[in-house]
Amino acid sequence: LTVALAFSLLLAGCGGKTPQQAKVLKIGTDAAFAPFEFQDEKSKEYIGFDIDLIKAIGKQMGYEVKVQGMGFDGLIPALEAGQIDAAVSGMTITEERGKKVNFSKPYYTSGLSIVVKQDNAAIKEFKDLEGKRLAVQIGTTGANFAKKVKDAKVREFNTAPEAFLELKAGGVDAVINDLPVNEYYIAKTGSKDAKIVGKPLNSENYGIATAKKNTELAQKIDKALEDLKKSGEYDKIYEKWFGR
Ligand code: ARG
Repeated sequence: LTVALAFSLLLAGCGGKTPQQAKVLKIGTDAAFAPFEFQDEKSKEYIGFDIDLIKAIGKQMGYEVKVQGMGFDGLIPALEAGQIDAAVSGMTITEERGKKVNFSKPYYTSGLSIVVKQDNAAIKEFKDLEGKRLAVQIGTTGANFAKKVKDAKVREFNTAPEAFLELKAGGVDAVINDLPVNEYYIAKTGSKDAKIVGKPLNSENYGIATAKKNTELAQKIDKALEDLKKSGEYDKIYEKWFGR
């Protein structure tokens, strides 16, 4: 009788709590990639296109979104270890990454571009990078692209802003990084120091990454993304960050 009573009390206890506890979606991101993910200067809150998008996706799915900052090259290992449920970090959908994680449908079309100092007249396009000193962010598609440049001396930095700082300091000749992030950097902070040269080097699609085994979550995210595109919510978020 005592056991039965204890058991029913336990059940009642759980039953009373479960409905209020919102399901949590743990998001990992490298928040040094404005305008996609960065920290508000004053509040230190995570903000940006990706942050608004994943919050909207979470809401659509009935989840509370919790964002955790980490190094970009730590995102896929964190997914594999189950420390986060999804990575939203301007992450390009690539075949190689696709072997380790699932990607949502593309949510943003991007690509790489070259940034040089404002007064650099020597580098105008990709072929001019030959033998030059390049800065990239570690673990990125930009880092892979730089490896294709003949005789270049490539230095990998933990974050994109550190690569830009090195360019400003004169330690490298060019940065290879995602075009929208380069544009934002130049518009906000660097127009005196830096400029984008040449055409975009390629076209890349960003996707939301989830653990390989968690196919159910990947499907839910795709469905929510589709809903947000239909409802106009996606467009609102796009306008907010990239508005004409
Ligand atoms: N799109 C590039 C890639 O997937 C760079 C992404 C870097 N993202 C970031 N939050 N730092 O490799």
